[in-house]
Amino acid sequence: MANRPLVAIVMGSDSDLPTMNEARKILEEYKVPFEVKILSAHRSPDDVAAFARAARKKGLKVVIAGAGGAAALAGVIASHTTLPVIGVPMDTRELKGIDSLFSTVQMPSGIPVATVAIGATGAKNAAILALEILGVTDKSIESKLEGFKKTMAANIRKKNLKL
Ligand code: RP5
Repeated sequence: MANRPLVAIVMGSDSDLPTMNEARKILEEYKVPFEVKILSAHRSPDDVAAFARAARKKGLKVVIAGAGGAAALAGVIASHTTLPVIGVPMDTRELKGIDSLFSTVQMPSGIPVATVAIGATGAKNAAILALEILGVTDKSIESKLEGFKKTMAANIRKKNLKL
């Protein structure tokens, strides 16, 4: 099916949506089909397990999971699937996202979560990393990413001219 989602963007709460929309925008720009879901490791644990167990069969290739605080979502998904899972630690008012970062990144041996930066930067990088994973076997995504890197380098060079 042409529009079968390849990437899932999941998050622990709708309060994560503004941050996770940064990932969504990038996937839209690359015209990569994706799905978005709210799933909470603590509030809807059965739904998280069901999603993760069905993910590969559904045709998903990568899961991006954002959560904040005691952020178990990415890790729990990773425990139920062999798909690569990218964890986005949400910024938090109380601990500035350090809680989310440590909860997401400090996985036990055998269950990796590719953890990106806290907040919006992390959400953007999660989408780019997902594209890079897809780009291993998809030439058109890979060449677009190549162009993106060239543009970034050109922009840095332009900044030097203004100094
Ligand atoms: C986490 O708790 C969510 O991922 C969110 O970042 C945080 C707060 O959730 P809400 O209380 O705003 O729903 O599970």
